[in-house]
Amino acid sequence: MSKNIVIVGTQWGDEGKGKIADLLAEKADSIVRFQGGNNAGHTLIVDGVKTVLHLIPSGILHEDKICYIANGVVVDPRALLDEIEKLEKTGLKVFDRIKVSNNCPVITPFHIAMDVARERNLGDNKIGTTKKGIAPAYEDKIARRAIKISDLSNPKVLKQKLTVIAELYNFMFKNFYDSPTLDVPKVYEELLTLGNKIKPLMTNTSQELRDKYKDGKNLLLEGAQGILLDIDHGTYPFVTSSNVTIGGVSTGTGLPPQAIERVLGITKAYTTRVGSGPFPSELPEGDKIGDHIQEVGKEFGATTGRRRSCGWLDLVALKYAVEVNGVTDICLTKMDVLDELKEIKVCVAYKNKEGEIINNFPTIPEDFEGLEPIYETLEGWNSITFGIQKYTELPLKALDYITYIENFIGVKITIISTGADRKHTIVLKDFFD
Ligand code: GDP
Ligand code: IMO
Ligand code: MG
Repeated sequence: MSKNIVIVGTQWGDEGKGKIADLLAEKADSIVRFQGGNNAGHTLIVDGVKTVLHLIPSGILHEDKICYIANGVVVDPRALLDEIEKLEKTGLKVFDRIKVSNNCPVITPFHIAMDVARERNLGDNKIGTTKKGIAPAYEDKIARRAIKISDLSNPKVLKQKLTVIAELYNFMFKNFYDSPTLDVPKVYEELLTLGNKIKPLMTNTSQELRDKYKDGKNLLLEGAQGILLDIDHGTYPFVTSSNVTIGGVSTGTGLPPQAIERVLGITKAYTTRVGSGPFPSELPEGDKIGDHIQEVGKEFGATTGRRRSCGWLDLVALKYAVEVNGVTDICLTKMDVLDELKEIKVCVAYKNKEGEIINNFPTIPEDFEGLEPIYETLEGWNSITFGIQKYTELPLKALDYITYIENFIGVKITIISTGADRKHTIVLKDFFD
């Protein structure tokens, strides 16, 4: 029987999904991205060597693995080729091990320009997107006018579809956003050239993945972003435009729900957020502990380089993530970042502006207004966990922190990450056996 594991972010992204996907990839047949696009930034560190991936699944460093970009992903073909080229320059064989769904919507220069224009137009209300064209590409998919990957090798269809998009976008650039219009023939030629280059990668990933599932091959499904950025279940409108949560696996791959054996939620030992939107347990800028966490945790975006805001672990949000995703296991990352703290707080409930205690994560924007976190203060371990690879070597107070979280959410922490390197990990369970 095939054992398929899904990795999901349980916060606002950047939980360390890439590191764990790389670690678990060793025992998988194939590693699959099912949503998002190159807005993701997944960092892998192996023996001190850093690799940042945006579109390519985090199994790529294992030279015998196939990496799938399934239909739920929006693909910028230029970004894909650049990423392949960069990896190949390090001596890694990449091109032959990537398969891209024929069905992925394409991110074109129009989508990127629209993302940029819209963010500028929103001013103070901006979402703080990665400006990679993610939302416009998903919008075109839903509006049934998207250029699909397979269209890139069909000049006639490409021209037809691009004309529709170009007319609409250039009209809006000119008449609404006061932005420069794009040259359609130039974009067409560029897409056609890129299409020719990636043609060997194009395939029916949906069928291939179901065949692998039927053949008992292990699949590792690597989520991007985190639940609180999910288009339906996140802090809307300050979210990304895909289903980051578990439902995205079936729609984004063509695998049936029964194919999912375990759901591994990746959780940072504290919380970070990049971009705009509510963040109840945020430590305000200038707060000494927040700055310490930001500095020790090197909390800068892997895609945009932006400073990530930091705050305490929000257990209400984590419980929500567990329930929505059916999380079966948690991997707790970046424990080492808290090593020097004497006290560690965790958010266990909220108080709203009417003074009522709120135990569930809010789902409408207005409910975040005036929402105050209620904290439980735990003793810090105040010693070094960085690099520890054995559970029994963890300080008792660190184990208490782990147990506290487990009791609150009702799910076991079966992987503990104590550093950025692949080897800085304690794995308490064999996921693919
Ligand atoms: P992702 O988007 O979920 O894959 O996470 P990112 O790669 O954007 O951000 C996680 C950051 O934390 C990266 O810089 C990782 O190298 C680093 N990291 C991952 N796990 C650990 C850990 O346990 N400890 C420390 N100190 N850093 C970690
Ligand atoms: P990984 O996979 C953190 C955030 C952006 C912005 C919002 C919408 O590395 O965890 P978008 O460009 O998607 O339209 O931006 O979502 N965002 C992320 N934040 N990690 C990510 O990915 C993110 N991908 C998007 O900052 O707030
Ligand atoms: Mg990231």
